[in-house]
Amino acid sequence: METLLKTAKNFLVNVTARQSYEEACFHLKYCVERLNPEELCILEKDPSLDKSYINFVNVAECQSFAISVFVIPTGLKLPLHDHVGMTVITKVLWGELDVDSFDFIEKDKFVCHHMGGEGVQYPSFTMRAGDCQLFYPFKANLHEFKARRRCAIVDFMWPPYNPAEDRDCHYFMSQPHLGLRRNDTETEKLVYLQRIPCPSYFYTQEVLYRGPPLDLRYL
Ligand SMILES: [Fe+2]
Repeated sequence: METLLKTAKNFLVNVTARQSYEEACFHLKYCVERLNPEELCILEKDPSLDKSYINFVNVAECQSFAISVFVIPTGLKLPLHDHVGMTVITKVLWGELDVDSFDFIEKDKFVCHHMGGEGVQYPSFTMRAGDCQLFYPFKANLHEFKARRRCAIVDFMWPPYNPAEDRDCHYFMSQPHLGLRRNDTETEKLVYLQRIPCPSYFYTQEVLYRGPPLDLRYL
């Protein structure tokens, strides 16, 4: 975790002209991959983690990034949501989840994030303990996570959600089968992503972070 914070400081706070976005992604993913359940105090057998609700832990948040943990009971899901202009690195600490991801294909993506619009659905995939995935502002920015088996994930995202800077979280429902689109390597499924209010089934219970204290003063 200390290495992650140092790397975040180097690439997201004290940014130099020589650093590229790709380098930031590479180095931050390397650090997120090394986070483990023990250091975050998110153990599968911990009786204080509720098995009926999604537990949410706000591990750290500053102006430049946020680190959160979700513990998702079997069969429950984080509904389809977006991360406007944000990059997210997700690591599975334990358990298994299915991921569906999408992007808007219409020209004015910013309007789509507020109003809904036509999108492309990427092939679904399953993430297992130790797997780590990048979701970009321009690729797989909208996604839905469903726990195939009770799981815990840690999200490192930058910049963090901030409605004051137009980075609110919006929810969507995918209306499938507008057709198919062929690109160079694969056939993609086209969908309509309808903007919806936060689904009523999506309820999270916040649990306090119990890992080692984090020093965010210089971030
Ligand atoms: Fe997300």
